[in-house]
Amino acid sequence: MDFLCIAHRGASGYEPENTLLAVRKALEFGADGVEVDVYNVEGELMVIHDDTLERTTNGRGTVAGKSAAYLRSLDAGKGERIPFLREVVDAVAGRAFLNVELKGPDTALLAKDLLAGKDGVLVSSFDHRELARAAHCGIPVGVLWTRPPRGWEKIVSGLQADSVNIALHSVRLPFVEKAHALGMKVFVYTVNNPADIERMRGMGVDGVFTNFPDRV
Ligand code: G3P
Ligand code: MG
Repeated sequence: MDFLCIAHRGASGYEPENTLLAVRKALEFGADGVEVDVYNVEGELMVIHDDTLERTTNGRGTVAGKSAAYLRSLDAGKGERIPFLREVVDAVAGRAFLNVELKGPDTALLAKDLLAGKDGVLVSSFDHRELARAAHCGIPVGVLWTRPPRGWEKIVSGLQADSVNIALHSVRLPFVEKAHALGMKVFVYTVNNPADIERMRGMGVDGVFTNFPDRV
């Protein structure tokens, strides 16, 4: 069975997270997939993880309320700009699958506009209402949880999810087996330690999100 290597925020262990440099580095490593996080900025999806700017850029304050022009003027590390999702789509260009994690409101329909009809895309989110909008448009979806709640089976079936994406600390073998029995893949984040990578492989999960794709 396949065990997929998904570069988390690009190859973020090596290059500034969620930049085109990190995406290209992941492709150089031959990652099977690339995960990025997106916000709606003035009707375009921009690639950044936090809802504030300080940790990953030289900007200040929240992403919400900023113009795309302002965000594009910032340094996201090594002189990189905060990418538009469309630039990431072009960079990946079918060389890996693309997992777009929706952060913040009003992102699903914009993702649909960019991704509908493309092979090798997965939209995921902790915001299951936003995710339902993507699923409704026929985009493959992954349901994100840090820990699956009671009744998770109903939620993933309701969304007709392709995968359930959960945190490393909450993965248990019976959960993996149940998800597989329901026809769902299990992807686990964020798995950087080689021993954990091997443990996940042994448990039969379908792939891991890692900052260090060369370790998988
Ligand atoms: O999609 C997996 C992982 O990226 C979810 O958490 O906070 O790193 O976006 P986070
Ligand atoms: Mg993410």
